[in-house]
Amino acid sequence: MDKTKLFDAGSSDQIKSGKMKRFTVADKNLLVCNVNNQFYTVDDMCTHEDASLYLGCLKGHDVECSLHGGRFNVITGEASVEPAELPLQTYPTQLINGRIIIELGDSHE
Ligand code: FES
Repeated sequence: MDKTKLFDAGSSDQIKSGKMKRFTVADKNLLVCNVNNQFYTVDDMCTHEDASLYLGCLKGHDVECSLHGGRFNVITGEASVEPAELPLQTYPTQLINGRIIIELGDSHE
């Protein structure tokens, strides 16, 4: 039966508004972003070349890559500024009792 895997990224207090934090879960590097106290999760790896978006910065709801300045909307994953073109994978993220809970997708167990 398919089952959605959930990851508890910890208390929401640890990521202030306008900040982001990187987590490694299984073989994925995830970037959790706080945009006006709403939490969004995307892949940490830029889709343009191999660069960690964690090394960039959050500007509103866009994360800007430190390598070439490409940007992605962390809500939709869409590339918003070139040279970024391909979207980032997004992961549904909720706040439950003050904790950041990320859906990693389906596992086949
Ligand atoms: S590696 Fe991110 S914009 Fe080029």
